[in-house]
Amino acid sequence: MSLVWKVMALLVLSLALLTCGAEVQGNGQGKKQVPGSSTVHLSQDRDIWRPLIHTTVNLSEINSIKSSFELRTFDPEGVIFYGDTKNGVDWFVLSLKDGIPLMQISRGDILISVAGGPKLNDGKWHTLEVSNHGKFVILEVDGSEGVTVGMKSQQADEVISGELRLALGGILISKEKMIVQFEPRMDGCVRKGSWLNISTPWQSEVEDLWPCYQNIRPGSYFSGKGFAIFNTSVFLTEEDDGIKFELWSNFTQMDGTILSIKAPEQGLMFTLVANKNTKVVTFTRGKEKTYMRNTLRRLLIKFSEDSLLLVIEESELDSTSTTIMPMNHPGYLTTWRKSRLTVGGLLGEGEDSVGSQFLTGCLEKIQIQGRDLDLDLAVKHMSVSSHSCPA
Ligand SMILES: *[C@@H]1O[C@H](CO)[C@@H](O)[C@H](O)[C@H]1NC(C)=O
Ligand SMILES: *[C@@H]1O[C@H](CO)[C@@H](O)[C@H](O)[C@H]1NC(C)=O
Ligand SMILES: *[C@@H]1O[C@H](CO)[C@@H](O)[C@H](O)[C@H]1NC(C)=O
Ligand SMILES: *[C@@H]1O[C@H](CO)[C@@H](O)[C@H](O)[C@H]1NC(C)=O
Repeated sequence: MSLVWKVMALLVLSLALLTCGAEVQGNGQGKKQVPGSSTVHLSQDRDIWRPLIHTTVNLSEINSIKSSFELRTFDPEGVIFYGDTKNGVDWFVLSLKDGIPLMQISRGDILISVAGGPKLNDGKWHTLEVSNHGKFVILEVDGSEGVTVGMKSQQADEVISGELRLALGGILISKEKMIVQFEPRMDGCVRKGSWLNISTPWQSEVEDLWPCYQNIRPGSYFSGKGFAIFNTSVFLTEEDDGIKFELWSNFTQMDGTILSIKAPEQGLMFTLVANKNTKVVTFTRGKEKTYMRNTLRRLLIKFSEDSLLLVIEESELDSTSTTIMPMNHPGYLTTWRKSRLTVGGLLGEGEDSVGSQFLTGCLEKIQIQGRDLDLDLAVKHMSVSSHSCPA
């Protein structure tokens, strides 16, 4: 049956992953069986490359060449679905990159990557279907052809027997095997999966699968239980450009610490805190505080060597106000590059990542240095959802 993904991988590694899964769950308990059609929230907390659910079937039992499922996400990048045979020697990985489906396939002596089809990260449910027709693998999106890949090997076709493994939300091979590297974490949901028409139950790696929100909108959602931390060294900063933060949100819906920057061995460089009761958003730098009404829609904060600029855009009044405060901080860039930025909470004393004053609410968009901030790249609490808010 050349129906199936064949692929491959470090046998040892795959075994290690599976074994390790078993250990974590302890004594075989806690490993739940779930149907392959379960709704799976792909950002559920775990090791970043580890699948949330997986299954193994005997290849001789497979009578279909098609897998189909629905996907909904605002996240441009992350792993969706994985399949392999021969214990990971032949493999298939479907992910998103820049919002576009990316397939990577290893079969015998062939290793390829193909990206194509429409951008899928628009927050709508899309139906994806992957099928295997001899030398061709076809990905269909919403009933239209997305990508077709043809592969011809010098090696003789062999009879495939043994087992097929499928996984959602992670892979069972080493990430170094792939041609195109990507950030695996995906804030998205998969549902209504039909996998090669198999009815075998899947094993869940987690106790309970998180539900998906009924409706979502773009943004980063904070439920008041945790926050996200970045090393500021990851942001590009040019000598004389200053440092620019820009936030868009309905601030009336937010309560708690939105942003803070903490320099090593120093206090906070600044904090931005919203208070739903007082309806005030407070920007604090050292002992100086700037108060804003929480009806603002956009806030721009820009540090440079000799000034601090605040631009506040109000929705109701349709007005923009600009405040420039003089600053004398020649070493601010050096300090900034060694600092830590938190979103949705305040970093505690010391270098650990204990936080407090967590944010509740949806932060629609944050840009740093003019680029969208991707919370998938942060060290973040599992309660923080990087690319979607409940709507
Ligand atoms: C797969 O099924 C075939 C035929 O039913 C059987 O002979 C073989 O042992 C099975 N293999 C595995 C790994 O279960
Ligand atoms: C799926 O499997 C069922 C039996 O489990 C079978 O009746 C049905 O025809 C199969 N569908 C396809 C498309 O192969
Ligand atoms: C920041 O960098 C340090 C040292 O390189 C590292 O241990 C830590 O995990 C990083 N923190 C984040 C939030 O990326
Ligand atoms: C912000 O949220 C409040 C409360 O839900 C709502 O009344 C208001 O219309 C929203 N503002 C904007 C600009 O969407």
